[in-house]
Amino acid sequence: MSFPKDFLWGGATAANQFEGAWNEDGKGPSVADHVKGGTVSIPRQYDAEIHEGEYYPSHTAVDFYHHYKEDIALYGEMGFKCFRLSINWTRIYPHGDDETPNQAGIDFYHKVFAECKKYGIEPLVTISHYESPWYLAEKYNGWYDRRTIDFYLNYCRTIFTEYKDEVKYWLTFNEINAAMFPMNFGRLNGVGLKLADGVKMFEPEKTAEEASVRLTALHNQFVASAKAVMLGHEINPDFKIGCMIAGSMVYPYTCNPADVEEAENKMNAQFYCGDVQVRGEYPYFAKKMWKDQGVTVRMEPEDAEILKKGTVDFYSFSYYMSSCASTDESLQKTAGNILTGIKNPYLKASDWGWQIDPEGLRIYLNRVYARYQVPLMIVENGLGAADERAEDGKFHDTYRIDYLRDHIKAMKEAIDDGVELWGYTMWGCTDLVSASTGEMKKRYGFVYVDKDNDGNGDLHRERKDSFFWFKKVIASNGEDLD
Ligand code: BG6
Repeated sequence: MSFPKDFLWGGATAANQFEGAWNEDGKGPSVADHVKGGTVSIPRQYDAEIHEGEYYPSHTAVDFYHHYKEDIALYGEMGFKCFRLSINWTRIYPHGDDETPNQAGIDFYHKVFAECKKYGIEPLVTISHYESPWYLAEKYNGWYDRRTIDFYLNYCRTIFTEYKDEVKYWLTFNEINAAMFPMNFGRLNGVGLKLADGVKMFEPEKTAEEASVRLTALHNQFVASAKAVMLGHEINPDFKIGCMIAGSMVYPYTCNPADVEEAENKMNAQFYCGDVQVRGEYPYFAKKMWKDQGVTVRMEPEDAEILKKGTVDFYSFSYYMSSCASTDESLQKTAGNILTGIKNPYLKASDWGWQIDPEGLRIYLNRVYARYQVPLMIVENGLGAADERAEDGKFHDTYRIDYLRDHIKAMKEAIDDGVELWGYTMWGCTDLVSASTGEMKKRYGFVYVDKDNDGNGDLHRERKDSFFWFKKVIASNGEDLD
């Protein structure tokens, strides 16, 4: 029972939550740049106009743009084998539909990848992580318009060609299944943005028409992803291109068959995307699902063949928590960002109410591997916590170490079960902005960043206890977890 010798240990980030420099060196605004900060009780809000003097967390984030050398050196010190980051689409194409790319944006990522190479770190690049160009959202209604597929492919062609000798691992869309949920989180992917200004992030959808827009936009992303896989393999046949799904286990709350069915339906919302991207076709239950929801998904006749030809090389996912499903609406709910459900009485939760379930990770790995039989990669996992400086001036984040240790043990068990697992990148390896709440206070990192919820702080970096612990984990290839 041990990890493969070339296992990709590392950390994960996303440009909109990490880079800052939102309008520097020719970068255009992304959808994320139009979202205000919030808290767990005050939802984030989309603003059509950016209001001067108001706080938009992505604008400065934790300024990786100017700290990349220092940050990557810290990853090198921990012994990272892999660093997941996203390319900020609007750094390359400021509007999304521009004729020519922005050279300063291209240069920035060359510098980042050169730095990774210095420490023997393999970059894993997310092509779109909630960073669709704002201009495309405004002018074309984002992914609802098929022209966005071409703009995305143009962007892919540029970055695949530029970085073909620097990057081998790619993910086409972060948490593509965010668009499966009838709420406004999916807007971060540039869907449905023509709707009113001031919309709150988790506000529920109101009409079947909105659902049709959302699922058609998702279909267009599937087509774009499949075409990107084909294009990437043409440009460099050694590329490994994966899908990225927000993963979670959903258990029936009781053995009442109605609860079991409810849990199956919720798992199917994840498999809907996995099936299209890994198997190249919609699952058998899709038609019934559309019918029940009164949804029409607009497709073109050639799409079926495109989806079939552009299947991914591996399945990657985020995993933070699990939940239960039941038909009993009076049961207490559990917190989460997109994957919420009924509270499980057997599990503890994080400070933000996300239920901690390492055993669920083992079950999930087995479930997904049984279904798809392709290599898997965990590209997000971690604990959001309000780290406090101790009296000795340090950050003793033992709770984070405990969380990670238990999940790594579960991965080991899954490998022993026979699952092919390529890697593990811990989410938010350097503290960054929370996607769901916009807070800084919700920290995930091995590395602390001096910044608070209102944007105050000098952004200096410090090593937490988990930094030294993870270094040992990597050095022993997952054997020393103490
Ligand atoms: C995933 C996203 O949903 O979870 C990340 O891909 C996000 O962008 C992460 O940051 C953790 O969620 P949150 O809301 O705690 O930042």
